[in-house]
Amino acid sequence: MDAATDADRHALPRVLAAFDRAIGLDSTLRPSVAVAAAAVSVPPTDAMPAAVPPAAAAPAAARGARIPDSSLRAPGDRADRAARLEEIAARHAASCPHCVRATGWTNLVFGEGAPDAAVMFVGEAPGEIEDRAGRPFVGPAGEKLDEMIKAMGLARDDVYIANVLKARPPGNRTPLPDEVAACAPFLVEQILAVQPKAIVALGGSAVRALLGIDTGITRLRGEWLAWEPPAGADCPPIPVMPTYHPSYVLRTYTVEVRRQVWHDLRAVMARVGLGG
Ligand code: URA
Repeated sequence: MDAATDADRHALPRVLAAFDRAIGLDSTLRPSVAVAAAAVSVPPTDAMPAAVPPAAAAPAAARGARIPDSSLRAPGDRADRAARLEEIAARHAASCPHCVRATGWTNLVFGEGAPDAAVMFVGEAPGEIEDRAGRPFVGPAGEKLDEMIKAMGLARDDVYIANVLKARPPGNRTPLPDEVAACAPFLVEQILAVQPKAIVALGGSAVRALLGIDTGITRLRGEWLAWEPPAGADCPPIPVMPTYHPSYVLRTYTVEVRRQVWHDLRAVMARVGLGG
């Protein structure tokens, strides 16, 4: 056996172990070495796009909504952003045209995290456990999201997590277009307050609300798109990486899906300077 082959033979288990940890591959579902090695050999070469392509899209759900001047101005330091988010949360609770009328929810789930986060995750809507806790992504999907965040070398407190809808839809059904149109302007305000370097759109509902794109997530994921701020906002377009929703990852727990999500997260890490 020559030296290179020998080195490869010793390096492979380490690479596989790191890969397994990164994508949350548990021991019961661990594939054969051949399958895992094939997955590793698909390089997550997230070449950074020279420019963020504009969203080739119908208007995003909140486009045209009136955003208060206080949310259009550039955010200041971390404390200013935190204060802004608090004000938006209070105004949302008092006046969101969807949430104040909707029934069947216990707690609104506004969102949480670092007010100056470099990465913002946007999901669909609170589920039953989130509704009880008043916090986003704290059920099984949240555990998977936590794993994804950890795999990126971040802690949950480092990122900002929000949903398109802040009130749990009855029976966890998909949000309806009029519900999104009514509630999503507050998501726009959250984005303007945090101004992350990148947004991770978790699943089709998030992509539709942020970008107005109806194309399925399977076709969209893995390619950078751009969130366009509302007219008059002191905010640049923000790169958006569409990827699978953690619930989908849990339902479709294949090496291929996890490899794809990891590819997408690596692209985000590279874009925000996390050494992806
Ligand atoms: N699914 C979501 O989209 N958001 C949550 O907060 C929880 C589950």
